Amino acid sequence: MLTLAIIPREIINAFREHFGSQTKPELYRAPGRVNLIGEHTDYNLGFVFPIALEMACYVAAGPGGDGKLRAYSRDFDEEFSIAVDDLPAAKAAGKWSDYVLGVARELLAAGVRIEGGNLYIASDVPLGSGLSSSAALEISTAYALLGPRHMDPIDIALLGQRAESQFVGMPCGIMDQYASVFGQEWAAIQIDCRSLEHEYVPLPHDVRIIAVNSMVKHELGTSAYRERVAECQRAVAAIHEITPDVESLRDVPVALFERIQDSVSPTPRRRARHVVTENQRVIDFAAAANAHNLEVMGRLFIASHRSMQYDYEISCEEIDFLVDTAIKLPGVHGARMTGGGFGGCTVNLVAPNAVENFRRQLTKAYEERFGKTPVFYDCKPADGAGRVTDPD
Ligand code: GLA
Repeated sequence: MLTLAIIPREIINAFREHFGSQTKPELYRAPGRVNLIGEHTDYNLGFVFPIALEMACYVAAGPGGDGKLRAYSRDFDEEFSIAVDDLPAAKAAGKWSDYVLGVARELLAAGVRIEGGNLYIASDVPLGSGLSSSAALEISTAYALLGPRHMDPIDIALLGQRAESQFVGMPCGIMDQYASVFGQEWAAIQIDCRSLEHEYVPLPHDVRIIAVNSMVKHELGTSAYRERVAECQRAVAAIHEITPDVESLRDVPVALFERIQDSVSPTPRRRARHVVTENQRVIDFAAAANAHNLEVMGRLFIASHRSMQYDYEISCEEIDFLVDTAIKLPGVHGARMTGGGFGGCTVNLVAPNAVENFRRQLTKAYEERFGKTPVFYDCKPADGAGRVTDPD
């Protein structure tokens, strides 16, 4: 099982070496997340159920002194530097620096003065895997640029989301940034994406959460995401015509949907069916987790996957293969794709004593079929973002 743990002290040393500085930087961390259930429900103001991960993005931040913001990414081995006064004019360049600049711009817009400074960024959240490396970068950057200044955590999450939707150009919901900010070491987070409130839900101890990286990411990601957002809006408009109280798919219970679905044209109808039933699955999953009912939790995982596969149409051959193979293995309660779609990871509920066999069999089958080796992550709920108080 892969553990890519970053050692905080190393980041501090690397900062000093890279910037030739003797000052001790402050270190900030923001985790990735794996969503257990509730996919594509966030921008429909529904429910999601992620856990924050130990895998995280780290930013070491120290003073610069020349009015410039300088950021180095260890993962891309690239640096940029920009005069703080030029920040608002910066344009998206289609790379990692957009996330940093987008966050800086949003902080400025919120009235936070950005001093120049040096940032050393290193992450062990795998890129393009559906585990939210972007939110981890946004949120760790936000904390680093804020430094000791306080901002309400919910505003930090919203600011990260705006950076991604308005500057980077990915019209995402709030789930990833929220999970990165509000993660808890012992629980999943059930988020109500309309009220922006959450509840922590402890998970049964006799199950392991294993993410399996398909190592593929099909490129239609952002455009298909945008298309799904628009299709959901079309469904809402059609339902609103006959049920004026409905402002978002969140307002549509399953029973109402079944009654009025014929008034929605076929594609938006399928998208809406996914969202409406997925919201209900989040509620049922939380209840099953509270009741330690792994059988029901597993069944909901599989139902969620089928809904993404056939109604939302965001899965792909490799992911379906990983799910279909996993659920036939002993000790696997359930499997589904996690994240935006078209590749990335599946998430699996596996009995602790079955994990080793699960890893071996799934690797063998996937290698034989696709000639690629999947990567496994043991996902334990971890704390949300903040300053690393004791980097030693
Ligand atoms: C991406 C987005 C999230 C969410 C998921 C799908 O991760 O950033 O806001 O919509 O896809 O559940």
